[in-house]
Amino acid sequence: MSGLFITLEGPEGAGKTTNREYLATCLRKQGVEVVLSREPGGTPLAERIRELLLEPGSEAMATDTELLLMFAARAQHLAQVIQPALTRGAVVICDRFTDATYAYQGGGRGLPVSRIAVLEDFVQGALRPDLTLIFDLPVQVGLARAAARGRLDRFEQEGRDFFEAVRRTYLERAGMAPERYRLIDAAQPLESVQRQLDGLLPDILDRCRG
Ligand SMILES: Nc1ncnc2c1ncn2[C@@H]1O[C@H](COP(=O)(O)OP(=O)(O)O)[C@@H](O)[C@H]1O
Ligand SMILES: [Mg+2]
Repeated sequence: MSGLFITLEGPEGAGKTTNREYLATCLRKQGVEVVLSREPGGTPLAERIRELLLEPGSEAMATDTELLLMFAARAQHLAQVIQPALTRGAVVICDRFTDATYAYQGGGRGLPVSRIAVLEDFVQGALRPDLTLIFDLPVQVGLARAAARGRLDRFEQEGRDFFEAVRRTYLERAGMAPERYRLIDAAQPLESVQRQLDGLLPDILDRCRG
C-alpha cells in the first residue's frame, strides 16, 4: 500500500493553513486517514529549525545557510512523519514543501535552480508530491492578509519584488507539469475557494483508492 502526498503552496496569506483543515475534514468524512503537517517543521526537531529560519535575527543569514536549513528540516520531516505515513497508506497534506524552496530560495533569493535540484534528489530520492495545489493571488492581497495576522516573520518582511518572483516561480512550475499542479484562485472569498477545493475532491478520492 502506498498513500497519497498532497502539498499546498502559495505565498503568505494565500489561505493554505485555513484550507488545509477544510480539505482534511472533507477527506476524513470519506473514511480516509489524513496526516496534516507543515514545512519548515512537522517534527519537534524540524520545528526548532523552523524557528531559526523564521525568526528575524541580528545576523544576516547566508542564502546557502537558508537553503540547507530548509532541506535539513525536510530530511527530518520525511524520515519521522511523511515516509511512515505514506508507507501505511495515509494521505499526507503538507502546508508547503519543496516547491516553496524553488519559489522562495530560487525565485525570491535568486539561488540557482540546479543547486536546489541537487538537494531535492539527495534528500528526497525519487519522492515527489502526487498533487500540489497552488493558492494563487495578487501579491498585495496576500501581504495585506498576512499583515493583519500579526507580527511579520523573516520572510514576510521581504519586499514586493521578492514576492512577485515567488508568485512567478510557482506559476512557472505549475505550467511545466500540469498533471501534478492545480491552481486555486485564492483571491476569492473563502466560500468560493472551498467550492474550488470541492471540485478537486473526486479526483483526490480516486487517487486515494486507485
Ligand atoms: N479566501 C480568503 N478571503 C479572505 N481572507 C482569507 C481567505 N483565506 C484566508 N483568509 C485569511 O487570511 C489570513 C491568512 O490565511 P492563512 O490560511 O493563514 O494563509 P497562509 O497559511 O497561506 O499564509 C487569515 O487571517 C485567514 O483567516
Ligand atoms: Mg500558513
